[in-house]
Amino acid sequence: MELSLSDGLFRKFSDMVYEHCGINLHDGKKALLQARLNKRLRVTKVTSYEDYYRYLTNPHNDGELTHFLDCISTNLTYFFRESQHFDFLKQKLLPELIELKRKSRTNRIRIWSAGCSTGEEPYSLAMYFASQIEDLPKWDLRILATDISTRVLAVASKGIYSRSKIAGIPESMRRSYFQPCCRDKDCSDFQIVSPIRNLTTFRRLNLKDPYPFKGPFDFIFCRNVMIYFDKQTQEALIQRMASYLDTGGYLFVGHAESLTGLNHPLSYVRPAVYRK
Ligand SMILES: C[S@@+](CC[C@H](N)C(=O)[O-])C[C@H]1O[C@@H](n2cnc3c(N)ncnc32)[C@H](O)[C@@H]1O
Repeated sequence: MELSLSDGLFRKFSDMVYEHCGINLHDGKKALLQARLNKRLRVTKVTSYEDYYRYLTNPHNDGELTHFLDCISTNLTYFFRESQHFDFLKQKLLPELIELKRKSRTNRIRIWSAGCSTGEEPYSLAMYFASQIEDLPKWDLRILATDISTRVLAVASKGIYSRSKIAGIPESMRRSYFQPCCRDKDCSDFQIVSPIRNLTTFRRLNLKDPYPFKGPFDFIFCRNVMIYFDKQTQEALIQRMASYLDTGGYLFVGHAESLTGLNHPLSYVRPAVYRK
């Protein structure tokens, strides 16, 4: 029997999601919420949405909130997504950064992938920097990768991807930075090699919560995350991220996102790139 979700209960769930992680489930998202709730109902063996709401808000079941938020977030991602950003890094930003660091006699490079999903974004950055910086071992390069979802972080920290997921990566990079997970020549899973994995640290972080680090970061990538937030949450997030950027540092957002109409201290550089 198909369950029905009343408008009142839909609003209770959507208010809760908004309050906890800033994701804005407007009226058009009711069918999506229902589909995702059905998954949790099957796992928890709760038989109605009302009972599930009670279960979720019962302080004895506080672990369920993490599972519920895991279920709500949209995690689509892929390697070298929005390649214009990587082209811009190669042509302009990386040479500029290396020059600047050499002049200021520091070898510290810090990057934050905020909303990293299953890891394709931070690993693309790690592979990109490893391939572009000849004397990499001399640099103190760290990539912090955070997400609210423990499910995606578990995938990310293993760094294992199927053949089809890595198919779009240039062959030279695939050969240098992935190893097959088995000896079989038709092996279908490949793991990112440890020197690349070691550049990256994965942590659970809700972007609405206080940040347990100081920065400053040279680059922050927060792409295809804000799109799920309303203007007010977006503005607060951008202002906060700006304070974690080094002076002259860059913020990258998704090309479907824009900071137009938001109050923030960054300068527009080119579509989806801003500078402090
Ligand atoms: C569509 S993915 C984008 C992944 C990657 N940045 C990219 O562009 O390919 C959005 C990610 O943001 C995460 N996310 C959503 N709300 C969040 C929040 N409040 N705090 C941290 N991560 C959040 C989701 O769990 C999801 O993994």
